[in-house]
Amino acid sequence: MLDTACVDLFCGAGGLTHGLISEGINVVAGVDVDEVCKHPFEFNNSAIFINEDVSNITAKNLDALFGGAAIRILAGCAPCQPFSTYSQRYETIGSPRWGLLYQFSRLIKTSQPDIVAMENVPSVSRHAVFIDFVEALQKMGYSVAQDIVDCSLYGLPQSRKRMVLLASRLGGVQLAAPSNDQIMTVREAIGDLPAIVDGEAHTADPLHIASKLTDLNLRRIKASRPGGTWRDWPKNLVAECHRRDSGRTYPGVYGRMVWDSPSPTLTTQFYGFGNGRFGHPVQNRAISLREGAILQGFPRTYSFVPEGGRVQFKALGRMIGNAVPVTLGKLIGKAIIDHLGYHSIELKVRSERDCPAHAGQALVA
Ligand SMILES: C[S@@+](CC[C@H](N)C(=O)[O-])C[C@H]1O[C@@H](n2cnc3c(N)ncnc32)[C@H](O)[C@@H]1O
Repeated sequence: MLDTACVDLFCGAGGLTHGLISEGINVVAGVDVDEVCKHPFEFNNSAIFINEDVSNITAKNLDALFGGAAIRILAGCAPCQPFSTYSQRYETIGSPRWGLLYQFSRLIKTSQPDIVAMENVPSVSRHAVFIDFVEALQKMGYSVAQDIVDCSLYGLPQSRKRMVLLASRLGGVQLAAPSNDQIMTVREAIGDLPAIVDGEAHTADPLHIASKLTDLNLRRIKASRPGGTWRDWPKNLVAECHRRDSGRTYPGVYGRMVWDSPSPTLTTQFYGFGNGRFGHPVQNRAISLREGAILQGFPRTYSFVPEGGRVQFKALGRMIGNAVPVTLGKLIGKAIIDHLGYHSIELKVRSERDCPAHAGQALVA
């Protein structure tokens, strides 16, 4: 095992952390301002959750968390809302949320990790805040690699494109090549889950619960076909706004998923039939929270609420829909592990030079 220590900023429920740990990276802590993330983060991962605003974290805090590890990794997925096309209309550069990427940059400057990993929506790369982020890394001597990753080509049963940036002081880090052979379908991911009806949870798994449909939406989903839209419905079921000419440009709501393709990109509201193409392929309901988590690459047993705790659609939808897919976390983790393996001799020499007490100790245990 490589002697790594990683801190995950904006860690959420731990999608990225879980993927990194699965590949052998020692994630020691996650930081997030939302305290409901504590249970899933800590219960499923052997790392501590720090309920804090990243703006209040200092290099000293990070040093204490990294301890004496030979390789220090700082990972961070600042919330992507300011960069999404939808919210761009509503948020301006003056929004405090734009500052979070600068906070990440501040912590890199002051704590000088060996490796930096970040994920965000692809459009982030068009914004000044991101260009500043990359320039700052390059000035500090990092080799920076960035890529738009189509997660469905790495085994995620979901169409989801994300920007991944990896930076290292040792040289370029590369992600494995994508492949059509790895495509996974909705059927393969969730086809064998027990049937449930809208508004009800499965007795064995409280997270396998689908939101209640109104009578109108129940009639609508019955009239929907996989991969179709509200355009397939009889006129009396079509919403007033969609009947107007301007509404005709929004076919992406009220759809059913297709069994034999990856799912559409999940949002934080994937549990609502009217919020996207989030209808179950054959059952008359939106997908359940558990199904959403599985489509985000979480293991089937990942615990999101303490036993007997309340299952709240809004909070859980946000944690699951916002997560870095575990599959993407694994891809990033594997790239880092391969990179460190490649540079292990160089790292050993450096560790002995920087800390003579470590001379003779193996970097790879
Ligand atoms: C895109 S999500 C991160 C997902 C997470 N990396 C995962 O893989 O599950 C962004 C997270 O940033 C958190 N957040 C927002 N503002 C924050 C702040 N100022 N300090 C710390 N966390 C913050 C949100 O609560 C949210 O969980």
